[in-house]
Amino acid sequence: MTMPRLPDLRGAQIGNEVVVEWGDHGKLIKQVRATVERFPYLTEGRNDKVETGGGAMSIIVTGASGKFGRLVTDLLLRELPPSELILVTRRPATLDHLKRRGAQVRYGDFDDSQSLREAFVGGERMLIISTLSVGRRAEQHRRAIDAAVAVGVSHIAYTSSGGAHPDNPAIVIPDHLRTEAALKESGVAYTILRDSLYAEAVVTEIAPRMLAIGKWVCCAADGRSPFISKIDCVAVAVKVLTTPGHENKTYEVAGRELLSFRDAAALTSEMSGQPIEFVVVSDEEEAAGLAAAGVPATYVEGLNTPGVGTSAIDDIVSYEQGMRGGYFEVSSDDVQHILGRPPRSLRDVFIEHREIFQRAAAKA
Ligand SMILES: NC(=O)c1ccc[n+]([C@@H]2O[C@H](COP(=O)([O-])OP(=O)(O)OC[C@H]3O[C@@H](n4cnc5c(N)ncnc54)[C@H](OP(=O)(O)O)[C@@H]3O)[C@@H](O)[C@H]2O)c1
Repeated sequence: MTMPRLPDLRGAQIGNEVVVEWGDHGKLIKQVRATVERFPYLTEGRNDKVETGGGAMSIIVTGASGKFGRLVTDLLLRELPPSELILVTRRPATLDHLKRRGAQVRYGDFDDSQSLREAFVGGERMLIISTLSVGRRAEQHRRAIDAAVAVGVSHIAYTSSGGAHPDNPAIVIPDHLRTEAALKESGVAYTILRDSLYAEAVVTEIAPRMLAIGKWVCCAADGRSPFISKIDCVAVAVKVLTTPGHENKTYEVAGRELLSFRDAAALTSEMSGQPIEFVVVSDEEEAAGLAAAGVPATYVEGLNTPGVGTSAIDDIVSYEQGMRGGYFEVSSDDVQHILGRPPRSLRDVFIEHREIFQRAAAKA
């Protein structure tokens, strides 16, 4: 018998098998029988076969306390009982409400491999929501992949980015490419979700900022992107986690139309009834404008500049360079195929948030 490593986790070795049980406050949630190799963390052994008990399917969500993670969790809870969710965060107290409903809320830090192994035990499928620590996160994601493999997770989905091409100058891309490669090398079944630029970021952050000055200023010029609703990205992630047939696939989670910021400016003008001039500036001028708005040069943990969001200057400018270079011009019907319906358009998302523009029009 091995020693329990968490209050709600027990592992017992019987011959060359291990029985792993986990629960919540003494109530048994789930039992798995596996050969010892599958749970080296409990048994220091190795194995390659897991049988799950009762047909239940535990799904791990990392970054569960974040905006994307909360939306994914809400949707998963429409499909699965809370006890089948393992929600991982460095701040478990923020998810107490879900713990009370029966979800397993566990501490896990991408900078601490042991915490990840403990957090992931018993999970069969997992969504790694990429962190925002640009430049450092490929290493964090690799730790998560290694920990998942070590405890027997059988399928990992990962939120990557559209435009994942080695020549793309956007500084967000290399981390995603390295994580995609790590997933493919891991031997575990994977699904890569290359989410394009969120339409909500355009509509709720960029557009109101530009509307306030009556100009849409950018260095992306007429570069285009298949803006995609974050809600559709979440729906795709949940479908991939809860239905079969997505193993070892890379999906371009993209909208149907390739649009530029000039198109976004025209929609902002239409929604608000106010004219907006489209102004293309140099990269340096764009960086200076963002600095004047209080945006830091590079990402710092917890960054969220009002009206700009979670991106730093180097991220925004290089992303727009990538747009200008055509690296984000991806056409795909993956979303339609996975969801069985078309993704929301940029116009749909503008309409969903029309009150932002009606308020601005009323003030003018
Ligand atoms: N396509 C786009 O336009 C676009 C735009 C922006 C972001 N994104 C992507 O959207 C996703 C997340 O966005 P979001 O809005 O949900 O961000 P968010 O609200 O800031 O959430 C970030 C999450 O990451 C977790 N996290 C960060 N560092 C961690 C660490 N060291 N260990 C464990 N967890 C850590 C945080 O958990 P705790 O702090 O609770 O531990 C939190 O749950 C990411 O995949 C990002 O790359 C895409």
